[in-house]
Amino acid sequence: MVVAKKWILAKHFDGNPQPSDLILQTEELPETLKDGEILCEAVWLSVDPYMRIFPQEQGNVMIGTQVARIVKSNNSKYPVDTHVVADLGWRSHSVVNDDSKLLKLPDMGDLSLSLALGTMGMPGMTAYFGLLKKCEPKSGEVVLVNAAAGAVGNVVGQIAKLKGCKVIAFAGTEEKCTWLKDELGFDHVFNYKLIDLAKALDIAAPDGIDCYFDNVGGDFTSVVLKHMKFSGRICICGSISTYNANAKNPACGPYPYLDIIIKALNLRGIMVHSFKDYFPEGQKQMLEWIQKGLIKTKETVTEGFENMPSAFFGLFKGSNIGKAVVKV
Ligand SMILES: NC(=O)c1ccc[n+]([C@@H]2O[C@H](COP(=O)([O-])OP(=O)(O)OC[C@H]3O[C@@H](n4cnc5c(N)ncnc54)[C@H](OP(=O)(O)O)[C@@H]3O)[C@@H](O)[C@H]2O)c1
Repeated sequence: MVVAKKWILAKHFDGNPQPSDLILQTEELPETLKDGEILCEAVWLSVDPYMRIFPQEQGNVMIGTQVARIVKSNNSKYPVDTHVVADLGWRSHSVVNDDSKLLKLPDMGDLSLSLALGTMGMPGMTAYFGLLKKCEPKSGEVVLVNAAAGAVGNVVGQIAKLKGCKVIAFAGTEEKCTWLKDELGFDHVFNYKLIDLAKALDIAAPDGIDCYFDNVGGDFTSVVLKHMKFSGRICICGSISTYNANAKNPACGPYPYLDIIIKALNLRGIMVHSFKDYFPEGQKQMLEWIQKGLIKTKETVTEGFENMPSAFFGLFKGSNIGKAVVKV
């Protein structure tokens, strides 16, 4: 008999997520599968910032994507040992009766399957389509990205470099900044916790910023908007600095409407799922770049399903460099 482990949202998050908000439970799965059913075993699980803000019911399994191996199958389209990506939540084992929930992995050669949750998966596609379709950077332009050592941000900066742009990047530790500068070759890299943002932008972008890929929002964005060029393009991708806001610590700003008006800025939000039909095209290009060494990949791996919460909490403490994943 298979006993599945699952993490339940015991209490809605309020402020910073707390260990007591989540509980680990077990569930006995049926001995035999019905016609068409598939038993999936998680191999890699993703933790992502959206899990903090996406509406979820108390008592439900935490939402999330995993790379799973099929360990038993009554569905000829999905034989045993096939690997899939699926939104099965924080579960070690799942019985799936609707195979439209499963996506076979894109061909990734001999790369780690975990990349299907990172550079080759949702965050990588967010960077790819967000930068290219919403910011439309041109060679020689100045691109600013924050949370730049994270899953989305590092890919944004690397694609911008491939497009011939000057990249200004912000991250929260010296180790992250060294990686961005020395290994990824970004042009100006700042630890935003140690600098005056306005002064840094005066130095790094004296003529202004053409494209701003925003993962952070809040006060950071209020300052950046003042340094945009006329008619600059902005991809509003995330607002992680405000995700843990609550009544005691409310989110404030950005309220710089005058900057947006006077500079005729183009702010465009992105929901990556609206590009779902184009993922194969983006993944093909990303794979080629990775295999040619033009895009580098990095992950922070947390070992053990039991440690899902600490990997998740780490996103809000800046614990991850590159994509945060959990290895079962
Ligand atoms: N719109 C979409 O479709 C879409 C899709 C994917 C992701 N996103 C968004 O993109 C952003 C990045 O996601 P990701 O998956 O790449 O996460 P990530 O960057 O890998 O991890 C989060 C990082 O954010 C930084 N951070 C945390 N709290 C912060 C704060 N208060 N102020 C500034 N930085 C903070 C930390 O790095 P530091 O050490 O640098 O602080 C942390 O490592 C998130 O806002 C996410 O919600 C949007």
